[in-house]
Amino acid sequence: MKKIEVIYESGNHQWAVVTRDPEKPDYIIDTNEYLIGQGDQFILTDPGGMEIFPAVFSAISARYDPRNIKALFASHQDPDIISSLALWLDFEPQLKCYLSWLWSSFIPHFGGNNETFISIPDEGMEIMLDRLKLQAIPAHYLHSSGNFNLYDAKAAILFSGDIGAALLPEGENDLIVKDFDHHIKFAKGFHSRWMGSNEAKLDWCERASKLKIDMLCPQHGAIYQGADVERFIDWFSKLPVGLGLRY
Ligand SMILES: [Fe+2]
Ligand SMILES: [Fe+2]
Repeated sequence: MKKIEVIYESGNHQWAVVTRDPEKPDYIIDTNEYLIGQGDQFILTDPGGMEIFPAVFSAISARYDPRNIKALFASHQDPDIISSLALWLDFEPQLKCYLSWLWSSFIPHFGGNNETFISIPDEGMEIMLDRLKLQAIPAHYLHSSGNFNLYDAKAAILFSGDIGAALLPEGENDLIVKDFDHHIKFAKGFHSRWMGSNEAKLDWCERASKLKIDMLCPQHGAIYQGADVERFIDWFSKLPVGLGLRY
């Protein structure tokens, strides 16, 4: 079962994660969804596929009022990211969806209309959640050609989408990475195949290393915390990825 766990709380500012599902069947990739709250306004990152919508919705409802979700943030266009869009819009037709301008005429095939989407330009943009300033950070070609992370400077948390993803074996259900060297073995194959460009990767590593990040939160696998954030950026900067690898 998916559950909701709070990972950051300071006054009425919080981050919660809808955790991976240990009982999920093998044929579908496991995901984390993150809920960022300021006061009674929430934004949900990579809300997930239509298949898991009921599980995500009920996990959120166990602690929060889903009517307070004002916007979705889609890091990119994949089905595990945003194919639940039409179901979310059935629940709340006024929901906004932030995503790369590159995908803004493709994603409406999943639902929504010209009122739904807020296109993010290539250089990123500020996203206001009540009084909280979030930043869409460019992460193009990692892996999608129009791809963004979401940064919360106040909480020092970076939602990194597919960057940092690990496909963990059955029984490894930790929320936070405990043993980096062990964990990263399950991230290697994913990053070398899915991440498209070494140049884009180095660009991102430089950008990320300038941010203060206490938690790096990927859409798949466990969360990197403290010194493991820098360890991850360093590991990723040295990993050959994408084009140029021989298959
Ligand atoms: Fe993806
Ligand atoms: Fe993904």
